[in-house]
Amino acid sequence: MQNSLKRIYYKNSITIEYIKQLGKEKSEENLDKLLLFYNSVLPLDIKREVVSSIGRQQNDKKIYEFIIEEGFKKTYMELIYQMFRTTLYKSDNFKFQELGNRLLSFYNNEVMYKMHEFFFNGKNIKLPDRKNEKRIIKATLLKGDSEQALLKIQDKTIQLIFTSPPYYNARMYSDYTSYDSYLEKMYSILKQCNRILEDGRFIIINVSPVITKRPGREFESIRYPIHFDFHKILENAGFYFIDEIIWIKPECTVPNRIAGYLQTGMPLSYKPNCITESLLVYRKKTSFLLDKNIKLYSRTLANSIEKTDTSNCWYISPKADKKHPAVFPEELCEKVLKYYSFKGDIVLDPFAGSGTFGKVSKKMKRVPVLCEINKEYIKKLEEEDYDDL
Ligand SMILES: C[S@@+](CC[C@H](N)C(=O)[O-])C[C@H]1O[C@@H](n2cnc3c(N)ncnc32)[C@H](O)[C@@H]1O
Repeated sequence: MQNSLKRIYYKNSITIEYIKQLGKEKSEENLDKLLLFYNSVLPLDIKREVVSSIGRQQNDKKIYEFIIEEGFKKTYMELIYQMFRTTLYKSDNFKFQELGNRLLSFYNNEVMYKMHEFFFNGKNIKLPDRKNEKRIIKATLLKGDSEQALLKIQDKTIQLIFTSPPYYNARMYSDYTSYDSYLEKMYSILKQCNRILEDGRFIIINVSPVITKRPGREFESIRYPIHFDFHKILENAGFYFIDEIIWIKPECTVPNRIAGYLQTGMPLSYKPNCITESLLVYRKKTSFLLDKNIKLYSRTLANSIEKTDTSNCWYISPKADKKHPAVFPEELCEKVLKYYSFKGDIVLDPFAGSGTFGKVSKKMKRVPVLCEINKEYIKKLEEEDYDDL
């Protein structure tokens, strides 16, 4: 068939359903048809299905030859993923196992590594049986540096972590000799967080850029994009990116940076008022899908879908506190707890401050674990109902 004719014919008659059917009905004839379709002009989504259906067929010799022939050519990665998937499903056959490994090292591609990990390790991972576990059952306060204090918590026993870390040199309670040493410290604590978080669960970090005071009028102040740098340390600590939620505040509640520009109108001197903070949502690296986490809970624990925040922008006024310079608004904690934990979960704030997260967690029937280093804040938290560990 001429190419142009082929295109018209296929456009009208080849659908994803048809290709799926060919994949299901295993026969030499269907496999040959699919191999022919692969070499034809077809939309990518249909071609992807063609490769997947080839992999479902039975003639391993022909399938192997197809992947050897096509798998190392530069084509769409979507097609390569399907070929790689076939090598995984047929990996009982040593030849396919070896071919899969060759594809993996040839492409050195993160999606393929994740497929490999899910396929070989995902099935074997069991979530801990909570009934047999030594669980924290009461609201708990850990005193001191989180890096050490968190050592008291058993592996994989926390279901959610939400925190606002000390901002680098922004407020009186944080003092590090350099930005690198600040990030190193945060990394060590995140490693601990990763160890104690149950597989597949979320950590949410509230951060925003900070500026350090300039040492003199002749020097420039430095503005640190903390949220960008947190991505790397979260990844290295064993989490992967899920979402960024933007917390938006009323403009009248944030420091005024635009005044200078409004006086002169001079380009380059523009400094907008910053009305947002980030909530970085990450998941503990795990070889199984989120469904497995959700299935541990009864349907009766589902939220009402009324008043759901449908976008990643949450409009919440900040809260001022006489005793602590950076407290969470309760509404922010409520939303995080509602969307990322279930009633009865053990939830941690490793930088507790005034303990807003603990307070709201109790109200929402979660079990909070707080950690705080500052003696004054600890004293205040001790007045509330917290146990030691
Ligand atoms: C941004 S504030 C958290 C405020 C909190 N979200 C609230 O609602 O009050 C960070 C807190 O972390 C504490 N902190 C700093 N370094 C710490 C460490 N290494 N271990 C434990 N707490 C620490 C500080 O004392 C401060 O209270």
